[in-house]
Amino acid sequence: MAQTATSHQLINLLSTRANKENGLAQDVMQGLHKTPKQLSSRFFYDARGSQLFQQIMDLPEYYLTQLEYEILDRQRKEILFAFKTDSPFQLIDLGAGDGYKTKLLLQELQAQQVDFSFVPLDISPKQVEALLAELPNEFPGIKVTSLVAEYFQGLAWLNQNSQTRKLILFLGSNIGNFAPEEAQRFLCELRSALGPEDRVLMGVDLRKEPEKIRLAYDDAAGVTAAFNLNLLHRINHELQADFNLAQFSHFAEYDPIEGTMKSYLISTQEQEVQVKLIGQTFHFDAWEAIHTENSYKYSIKQLKTMAQACDLEVAEVFTDSTHGFADVLLMPRS
Ligand code: AVJ
Repeated sequence: MAQTATSHQLINLLSTRANKENGLAQDVMQGLHKTPKQLSSRFFYDARGSQLFQQIMDLPEYYLTQLEYEILDRQRKEILFAFKTDSPFQLIDLGAGDGYKTKLLLQELQAQQVDFSFVPLDISPKQVEALLAELPNEFPGIKVTSLVAEYFQGLAWLNQNSQTRKLILFLGSNIGNFAPEEAQRFLCELRSALGPEDRVLMGVDLRKEPEKIRLAYDDAAGVTAAFNLNLLHRINHELQADFNLAQFSHFAEYDPIEGTMKSYLISTQEQEVQVKLIGQTFHFDAWEAIHTENSYKYSIKQLKTMAQACDLEVAEVFTDSTHGFADVLLMPRS
């Protein structure tokens, strides 16, 4: 790589001026003028939102993290064997977060004395900075390049700067926030960033008992409600708006036909909300909803079809003991 003067470094591809604009103003402008109103779940993850999501992952109802942890914990050897770790590679973690699950693979790689470098990639500088600071202590001798970037911006940068083989992690059912056609496009774009020996390990939440899914997004402690409402708080803060958070409530329901978990913020009374920085006032009827998130659940069959459409093959499927979650290993076809 063009860099390896040190074995730990942070590269911020979002720090240029043009990239500072995060798109929130445009999303609010478009989304709140729509009928029904909507906002993008992309904007949940400011510093406070990322922190709340960390708390969600610890909730008893949020089975996704527990099940994927079990897969990576119990099947780490099989997963790495399927990838083949006998030649050097980069382990690229798309949306690395706190690295809680990835650390299981890092432990196994170090135990096997495999030659690899770790590339956590996230749009939140806080997360990857923290990983860069703590990983060398926890994993002495580890090579880390932290990337603050959008997914494909980061992958393009890596492809330009190294010829090393890649294992790309896309864990946590992050694919679930894309609408199916967006997920399909995402997979094809990912495919185009892969060399013949590269692989993707993708985590997906599988279809299961609807009420179990619903409760994962409507927890008893109200953390998910706070996470959803934080979006309005962020708009208040960043766009000088006057959302009264006490007049909106969290609502979550699962559509078992589409396999979609849908989250909303409901205006509990008729009200006007001013968003100063974009010069708009939005009217809310009593009980009018803002659709804030979709979390799609897939079947293995659907995933195989999606992979094929992008010239990818599902090389192996790793599931937890309840078959509620899967980590699928994807490889280029032919
Ligand atoms: C980060 C997209 C995987 O959809 O399960 C958790 C986000 N939203 N609780 C998910 C989320 C509400 C999460 N993903």
